[in-house]
Amino acid sequence: MRAIREVGARAVFDSNGIPAIEVEIRADGGVRAAELAPRGSTTGEFEAYVLEDAAALPALAAVAPALASVADLVRPALIGLDVCDQRAVDAALRAVDGGAYFRRIGGNVAVAASMAVAQAGATAAGRPLYRHLAETAPARLPVPMFNIADGAVGSNTVYTEFLLLPTTAEPAVALEQGARVRAALAARLTAKGHRCSDSTQGGWSVDLGGCEATMEMIVAAAEDCGLAGGHDFHLGLDLSGAEFARPPGYAFPWLERPLSVEELTRRYLDWVDRYPLTFLEDPFEPADEGAWRGLRERLAGRAAVVGDDLFASAAERIDNGVAAGLADGALIKPNQVGTVTQALDALACGARHGITTVVSQRSGESASAFITHLAVAGGAAWLKAGGLSRMDRVAKFNELLRIAEEFTPADGPRG
Ligand code: PGA
Ligand code: ZN
Repeated sequence: MRAIREVGARAVFDSNGIPAIEVEIRADGGVRAAELAPRGSTTGEFEAYVLEDAAALPALAAVAPALASVADLVRPALIGLDVCDQRAVDAALRAVDGGAYFRRIGGNVAVAASMAVAQAGATAAGRPLYRHLAETAPARLPVPMFNIADGAVGSNTVYTEFLLLPTTAEPAVALEQGARVRAALAARLTAKGHRCSDSTQGGWSVDLGGCEATMEMIVAAAEDCGLAGGHDFHLGLDLSGAEFARPPGYAFPWLERPLSVEELTRRYLDWVDRYPLTFLEDPFEPADEGAWRGLRERLAGRAAVVGDDLFASAAERIDNGVAAGLADGALIKPNQVGTVTQALDALACGARHGITTVVSQRSGESASAFITHLAVAGGAAWLKAGGLSRMDRVAKFNELLRIAEEFTPADGPRG
């Protein structure tokens, strides 16, 4: 056993320049690792709590309550535990919190501590992180999907993500496809007089007047690269339905007027008919269960209905939601649920149900490639790590290329 000897913390900045807590673990044998807490731009109601002094933002002092939580609660709970026993460490974090959503110690504190222990544990065990976390040998690599474009702030597609889903299971080929379409989309945007700037997630920040115009331009850019929709790639949308729910309907800013659930469902079905669209993330708010079920039934497998805010990476919510027929896929983000073990449990739960699992970034990220290892360890179908720009995103995709070197074609990825 390699014992945890020290648990420290500091205030740092995430990729959006927002103060974040970073936890640093030291263990026997000179082992040392640090991870910072990622942060969502839209955070669902079922997510782990962010412990901070929000009034102090953007000053680093906003992190003070999280630092106090590490010093007073987390450090005493973790010192002396085996750094390689991730389940025991994460159980200790939950025990010291004692409630739901990590309201006491902070979900940001829990996830940074949990991820730092995992990194330190992998180093202590002398194994790559994905092998350290995998309960059985990983059977496949995730396929990268890209935020090829994101709705610009101030546009009517704000909070909408436009995703490119390569059909190849070969990571290098998929990444090259992402790079080519990114360049082709830039060429089309500039030819139409748009400025090209990066979104927070490394896609092109776009203001093209709506979802349809954006999907059309992405398909055209892919065609410029000789890629055919439905054959070489598919499209996905993250609609962030919870942000735009105005019960009993929805008021997405890209709509001409607020729509009822039935009208919106018909709009989604129409898009699936007209575009190579196979992935609809958060089309509705979590409470709108009938809407989720109805869309899923009427799609009949032509496109996956995928829950992000719906499940908040919690195995129990995935169990209940899949049993209720709400979705065909789940996003897994460790900071939504608070610990690495719970994220792995959510991935295992998704696998048991045979749904599509997607390990995902947050808008606020670090340069760490932690989620790439998590995706491999948990056998995720997809890695959603943004666009091929900004090293906080590219680092995660590059790590997939490194890990791919360790996979033989026989146990390699499947699509
Ligand atoms: P978030 O968005 O930062 O709001 O989590 C990321 C996503 O859902 O892809
Ligand atoms: Zn999402």
